[in-house]
Parts: sequence; structure tokens; C-alpha cells
Amino acid sequence: MTPLFKEILESSDYSHQQLIRLLSADEDERKLLFAKAAEIKNNFVGNKVYFRGLMEYSNICAKDCFYCGVRSGNKTISRYVMSDEEVMQAAVFAYEHHFASVVIQSGERFNKTFIRRIGKLVSDIKKMSDGKLGITLSMGEQTDETFRYWFESGAHRYLLRIESSDEDLYRKLHPDNKLHDYSRRLEALYALKREGFQVGTGVMIGLPFQSYDHLAKDLLFFKSLDIDMAGMGPYIEHENTPLWQYRDSLLPRQERFDLSLKMVALLRIMMKDINIAATTAMQAIDPQGREKAIKVGANVVMPNLTPLKYREDYLLYQDKPCIDEEADQCQRCLEARIHIAGAEIGWDDWGDSPHFAARLRKKLGENT
Ligand code: 5AD
Ligand code: FES
Repeated sequence: MTPLFKEILESSDYSHQQLIRLLSADEDERKLLFAKAAEIKNNFVGNKVYFRGLMEYSNICAKDCFYCGVRSGNKTISRYVMSDEEVMQAAVFAYEHHFASVVIQSGERFNKTFIRRIGKLVSDIKKMSDGKLGITLSMGEQTDETFRYWFESGAHRYLLRIESSDEDLYRKLHPDNKLHDYSRRLEALYALKREGFQVGTGVMIGLPFQSYDHLAKDLLFFKSLDIDMAGMGPYIEHENTPLWQYRDSLLPRQERFDLSLKMVALLRIMMKDINIAATTAMQAIDPQGREKAIKVGANVVMPNLTPLKYREDYLLYQDKPCIDEEADQCQRCLEARIHIAGAEIGWDDWGDSPHFAARLRKKLGENT
């Protein structure tokens, strides 16, 4: 280990070059990095892990991202939409099992019926739970008006990954048209903040054409956007997508996983009080992937509440874990995993990031 590594690690206000050095940490250096991230996590967000019950609402998607298994160009899957009853049943399950929050995720769609239906489901879930279930949406880029309508219906968090903060790399991962424009994505993130959402974003790690340089840039991007939540995980190739052709040029899976852990740890050090998800993609590579992510900084997990019959058709990537487990099995499995990781579960607690509360206080202070 070079003395320089230790010296760099000591700060938390890393430069781009320093981040590149930290991302290349060797075995011994990694231990220091992870220990520091674990300590910061304990001091700033504590030892609790929060559950967000995940509904994969629909795999119908207007977009055609080159990495994603539910892209519109993939004609090999059957398309579905969860019924209103199925959504409500999943929400009741989450409520009765003390999850405190649900995430509704869907392929991107823009028609009025879809937008209204989501708004109605959000307000019905709020009513059913007497306002107690927190609702996160993840439905891609929408207009300011739609974001506002969903916020007013009762959703208070939104996940929209930037996928890569580097415009050139972003272009290589998406078709060249208006719907997949980088600036449109950025605009959507700004709009979500303006509308009052707690905003989560993230990237895939180990993408074709991606380097440490890009990942360092991503970390600085999260900081400059002042995000409240992050979800990051390894990129996993899918045979029915255009990026499949680059599969032989990828980092080995284990290295993509290791790099993802470093990204989680670094982000925890840089943004001490945000929420960071231990993503399912981490577990697709390493059976203990989520536990490992929790140990180095993550504090949110998303047990899957999607009805089993739809899971096969919501494969964003191949080898996705947990596609055979019903909600209660999934919950028990995650509970055990979290305890093994030495953490506690924040039952009946929204577990909003302290970062958001601080951001709000600052904003209110500025306006008085
Ligand atoms: N590998 C890993 N993650 C993926 N996602 C989509 N496709 C893949 C893939 N092949 C992630 C994207 C998206 C989130 C819902 O799933 O980052 O934002
Ligand atoms: Fe779903 Fe383990 S987390 S079965």
C-alpha cells in the first residue's frame, strides 16, 4: 500500500483524480476503505436497514435502452401490467408486514390513462394505509406536470438512475433520438427536485466502454446534484439486447461486483447521510452481495412483492435472483441476511434519508 492511499482516504472531499486512485484500491487498501465507510455509516445513518416493498408494475416500455432486458425492441418477452387488485394486495402485504414503504417501478409510458392510473393507485395506497405507507415511484422521465400530479397524489420519493453521468458514454448506451436524450434525463432529475421529491439516482458499474474515469465522474455528479438516495449495481449482460455483442470485452463479473462495493463505500464516505440501496444486481453476482453492500455502506433493501407469474418477464438482466420466491419467503430471506450482516431492520419506519431533512431545513431557512 502506498502512504498516499491512506492520506487520500483521510479526507472525504475527494477530487476526480483521487477518486480514480481510490477506485483502484488493492486488497489491503480495500479493507481500509470499507472500514472507513462502515464507521461513517454507523455514525451518520446508524445500523438500521429499511425495507421498501418492490412492485415491478409493468414491463411495457416506450424506450429501447441498449442494456435493458425489457426494452421495447425485445420481442421475446410477454408484456404485462399488474392489475389494480394486485397492486393493492402487494401494498396491503407491505403494510401488514411493517415495511413502511413501497416502490412502484415500471417501464416508461406517457399516455394519459397510465399516468392517471398511477396517480389513483398512489392515492388509494395512501388511503388504505391511513397515510402510513411511504411511496416511491420509478417510472422514468415524465413531464413536470406528471411529477407534480404524482407528488400531490402522495408519492414522496422518486428513483431515476442517470445510468452514466458522462454524456458520451450515455450516448453509447442509448439510441440516438429525442426520447433517449441525455439532457432530457438531466432535466427530469432537476424537475423531480423542484417538485419536492426525495430524489434517488444511480449508475450501472462495469458497463462496456466504462472506465474509472467515468465512475469517478459519477460519484462527483451525485454530490453536485445533492441526491437523497442512490442505487448502484453491476451491469449484467442480457442476450436479447444490443450490448450483448460486447460481452467478451467486459470486466469479469467478480470484478464488476468488487468495483460496485467500492462505489457504495466511496459514496457513503462522500455523502454521509443519504440512503443507499443494496441492489438485487449485487446479489445476482455474489450470493451474499446485498449483505456485503450493507456492511460497506448500504442501508436500504427492496424485497420483491411482484406476483410470481410476472417475475420471469421483468428480467432487466439475466440471472436475476429471487424470481421464484413469494413475498413472504423473500421477506424472511432478507431478514436473515440483514441479521447476518449484523444490522437491524427499521420496521414501521419510513427511513427517509437524514440528508433530505437537512436539505429541507436549509431550503426553509433560505426562504425565511
Ligand atoms: N444490468 C444491470 N442493471 C440494469 N438495469 C437495466 N438493465 C440492466 C442490466 N442489464 C438497471 C438500470 C435501470 C434499473 C431499473 O435497472 O440502471 O435504471
Ligand atoms: Fe428475495 Fe432472498 S431476497 S428470496
